[in-house]
Amino acid sequence: MNELNGGKLDWNEIREQFPISSNEIVQFNSGSSGTMPIAVQKELMELIKTMNAMPPYEALDMWENERSRTKERIASMLGVTKEELAFVRNTTEGLNNVLMGLPLKKDDEVICSNVDYPYPIYSINQRVEREGIQKVEVQLDLMQNSNEEIVEAYKNAITDKTKLILLTHMTHREGHILPISKICDMAHANGVEVLVDAAHSFAHVEHTISEFGCDYYATSLHKWLNAPHGTGLLYVAKSKIPKIFPLSPSDKKQNDNMVKFEYIGTRSFAHELGIGPALEFLEITGLTAKQEHLHALKKYWTDKVKNLKNVQLHSNTSQDKSCAIASFQIIGKSAGAILNQFEKEFKLHLKATGYKGEVGFLRVSPNIFTSYNNLDRLVDAIRITSN
Ligand SMILES: Cc1ncc(COP(=O)(O)O)c(C=O)c1O
Repeated sequence: MNELNGGKLDWNEIREQFPISSNEIVQFNSGSSGTMPIAVQKELMELIKTMNAMPPYEALDMWENERSRTKERIASMLGVTKEELAFVRNTTEGLNNVLMGLPLKKDDEVICSNVDYPYPIYSINQRVEREGIQKVEVQLDLMQNSNEEIVEAYKNAITDKTKLILLTHMTHREGHILPISKICDMAHANGVEVLVDAAHSFAHVEHTISEFGCDYYATSLHKWLNAPHGTGLLYVAKSKIPKIFPLSPSDKKQNDNMVKFEYIGTRSFAHELGIGPALEFLEITGLTAKQEHLHALKKYWTDKVKNLKNVQLHSNTSQDKSCAIASFQIIGKSAGAILNQFEKEFKLHLKATGYKGEVGFLRVSPNIFTSYNNLDRLVDAIRITSN
């Protein structure tokens, strides 16, 4: 696949690799899920054909080395060992293995925040209801708080009963990047473990788990890596593997092994093998150039609308605190109405994200298949609608 750009990085050529880029409706919701480029789709189809031309599980045995090599590549990108990684189906499944599987007793406390994704919070809520643990929700104002204030807010929430902090690396509404390593250092100094929700991080912004120093980490590979849908990753620090009960119970002999998180019954192994081609596709641009390009796309449209009357940006757009994702609001208009109008009138697909039922943000998440013409259409739509 590396010959695609003939040695030179041409974003138009990259864009043509994504069938979604020729859809009449411009896709601005990569935050919910990515889509595969042609090369990855083709390889996935071949893998499915192979899988269906063999007795069950024989393909899996044949693919074991390739699967292990793919894990090794990801482990080296994230600065961990492949023995600390499990392939799961998405961030949700990865997070739930830890949130539901960490042994906690009545009155133990788990910290989360108002900027976390709702579903991991629902998992904590379920343990509150069933086991009597306590949820402590930190309130952050991402447009106002400095990194130091954010660390301090988490620190102030810790008590001698705190066992875990759930932390989101890049928030789903604002696309805000939190100071993960600083929070991990502070948490560990207070004897508290950290689980990082990295749904939007992998293949989007450069980072390593080793630099974070977190205990647990989960990401989706179908989002920013554009790998097959239903692929994700769970990291558990080696010393913590034995104590986590897997969501789907496993043979006790596997208790010290990440494989215990992978025994979920029969699934599409072809999709897992499709992660390798997606990693190869990422190599065409490299993550550094991809991150710069995504940030530039976001800067382009936000700079053009940020001073418009009635438009309020809800994202910090600096390079150290954000990348592709940003949200806005048009004062006096409901997010649902704008969403429909943008889709019907301007052929733009955005995502409306609620905030405790109060404010409807509109989230824009472009991708490497987004063109500047697409962004101009978005800017025009915001200008007309907010006038
Ligand atoms: C911050 C965050 N965490 C978790 C998820 C869940 O991701 P998935 O549906 O891939 O499990 C999302 C989905 O958008 C998210 O934004």
